[in-house]
Amino acid sequence: PVEERVAALLDAMTLPELVGQLHQPANVDLERDAALLAAGAIGSTLHASGATAGNVRDGGVSRDRVDDLQRAAIESSRLGIPLLIARDVIHGHRTVAPIPLGQAATFDEQVVHDVAARAALEASADGLTWTFAPMLDVVDDPRWGRVAESFGESPLLTARLGAAAVRGFQASGLVTACAKHYVGYGLSRGGRDYATAEVGEITLRNRHLVPFRAAVDAGVGTVMAAFCDVDGVPMHSHHHLLREVLKGEWGFDGVVVADWNGIGELVEHGVAADLRDAARLAIEAGVDVDMVSGAYAAHLAALVEGGEVDLELVRDAARRVLRLKVRLGLLDPDCASLPGRGDLAGSHGLGLDRALAREAAARSFVVLRNDGMLPLRPRPTDTVLLTGAYTRERASLLGTWVLDGDPEQVSAVAPAVVRALGELAELAELTAGAGDAGGADADGDAVGVVAEPTVRRVLVDDGAFADRTLRLARDADLTVAFVGEHAARSGEDGSTSDVGLPPGQLEVLRGIAALGSRLVVVVLTGRPLALGEVLDLADAVVLAWHPGTEAGEALADVLVRGVPATGRLPMSLPRSVGHLPITHAERPSGRPLPDEARGRGRYIDAPSSAGVPFGAGASALAYGSLTAASGEVTRDGEAVVTLEVTNRSDREVREPVLLFLRDEVAEVTRPVRELVDVQVVTVPAGASVPVTFRVPAHAFGYHGRDHAFRVDPGRVVLTVGWPRADASAVVLDVV
Ligand code: IFM
Repeated sequence: PVEERVAALLDAMTLPELVGQLHQPANVDLERDAALLAAGAIGSTLHASGATAGNVRDGGVSRDRVDDLQRAAIESSRLGIPLLIARDVIHGHRTVAPIPLGQAATFDEQVVHDVAARAALEASADGLTWTFAPMLDVVDDPRWGRVAESFGESPLLTARLGAAAVRGFQASGLVTACAKHYVGYGLSRGGRDYATAEVGEITLRNRHLVPFRAAVDAGVGTVMAAFCDVDGVPMHSHHHLLREVLKGEWGFDGVVVADWNGIGELVEHGVAADLRDAARLAIEAGVDVDMVSGAYAAHLAALVEGGEVDLELVRDAARRVLRLKVRLGLLDPDCASLPGRGDLAGSHGLGLDRALAREAAARSFVVLRNDGMLPLRPRPTDTVLLTGAYTRERASLLGTWVLDGDPEQVSAVAPAVVRALGELAELAELTAGAGDAGGADADGDAVGVVAEPTVRRVLVDDGAFADRTLRLARDADLTVAFVGEHAARSGEDGSTSDVGLPPGQLEVLRGIAALGSRLVVVVLTGRPLALGEVLDLADAVVLAWHPGTEAGEALADVLVRGVPATGRLPMSLPRSVGHLPITHAERPSGRPLPDEARGRGRYIDAPSSAGVPFGAGASALAYGSLTAASGEVTRDGEAVVTLEVTNRSDREVREPVLLFLRDEVAEVTRPVRELVDVQVVTVPAGASVPVTFRVPAHAFGYHGRDHAFRVDPGRVVLTVGWPRADASAVVLDVV
């Protein structure tokens, strides 16, 4: 019935109406664009809030405005086809979860699914029907600001979490997800946004295309073309990767949307003479919807009438858009996304989502060092200093690409930590540092009767993090410093040429450490940073990403309330910018590292390995040895390997256990190790449980010299626990 309804609509449409379905302006103005709406010349719109795209807060979308747009589209046009209303709902909508890179640190598909599902419900309540997420670019260069939006460096993890996000966003049936940016954008040269990507098809297929294939298999409704060129061919004109691979080989029947002015930028790339030429190249390559450039609206009909573009290409693109609208129920009169029909207001409030945002944030934190400091248990005589740029800052804790999250709703760090310290027993005294005590006063209710004080004083610094901090630190027995980067330092066009802490912060940490008191450092960041010296200076280091609406409470849970932080690094931390790009899944050269002897391709002036490798992070579990049910696995069978894990802590934990693959001999070079499976296990305090991985031999396969997928006979090595000391491996024969 879907195809029949679509076919009937297509047959009824004029050429301008067909082209209209492919035109996506940034914002539709009801007066200015009334004639276009009446002509059916707008198929979808972006943002729906009156502001431009980009890494900006734009005042928020409103259901009333969306309803007005839909009414105009439906009531004024001949065929009455509603618009798709698109927006960047990336890691939450009203309620904001950790940045995707933080969510990836949970390694947990359930977390990612649930966050996406809740975000989509909130978005639906505002009438939105299309979210431009998840981002599935595999990344290995943290200079690129958009690593914040990624699930990190592993194709497998990105594929699993990406598919989970797609299922979550689309769970209600009212919203379509968008797998972006297809493909190679994560390889932007030098970490600079929009830059060229140098990559061959074997690596594309074995690495960068993997998550997009998973998203298509998960039923993603739309795919966004990447801004970059791949080996000289801009993705918005890449006939082979869009039309042959995505739509042909994989059978994707959804919509390919351009990125912002991506079709127009074919002129800047130097492959199109003008916008008309760009429109021709893009429709031929398989870009269905033109975001913002106006190339299709201006030129597509004339190109068809002049015989330069086949009408069937336009009909196919419009068919895809209409198919999506039918699948989203937009052509059903009782669809909840239509004006007056939706009763989703209940999902609009923050209350429903905050618990999930808090759990996701706490689970995303990676403890990189803990010399018996966490959870914090200050002595009754201690003075505790909370300092750093993020003690009271709220907006930055939301992270990049937050259009509708309200900074006022963010739980700030210092008040939450002060309150949690107060819960241990009553504080003897609460002292804000010079000036306004800010949220600490407001939340000072916990400071009351001094019964069994666990801490004498809590000083809350004003965030300036300089000389005054050092003066306060002199009085402190324990300093907790909340350092890192502002949200605007990562995200789109947020590339950096350095990957250390922002200027000045390390100097203050050095000063505090020199005073000899205990030091805990919490790093809030959108990208993996080089933290080598911080790890040396501090007694405990927590990598907390940009945690979202519940930042403060989640940090208080982990720092004070003893909630286990079980996050793992989804991207390697570099030693320096000179080590980039870096990944755990390097392919071996003829003289492979990590042998540090001269002649192996090492650096002369530094170790060649990562500062902290992918997969690292504190764990409550001790690992037993990996064993295999059989030493052989058939090419259409599955490997079954097991280990026992023991929870050494006094709390139940939920932790990821990672399995890595090494294929020793293949037709093309294969990574020295590559994540091949993840099990997230819940283990009661003190208990031992078996963890079983069932890995289909298909997972040992790869695209070979002819680009075709193959599973070879021969030895593979499966390792559990790398990079831990208790890692163990089994060797299997694939027959
Ligand atoms: O979805 C984004 C994309 O990731 C980058 N350019 C703008 C798009 C729409 O806002």
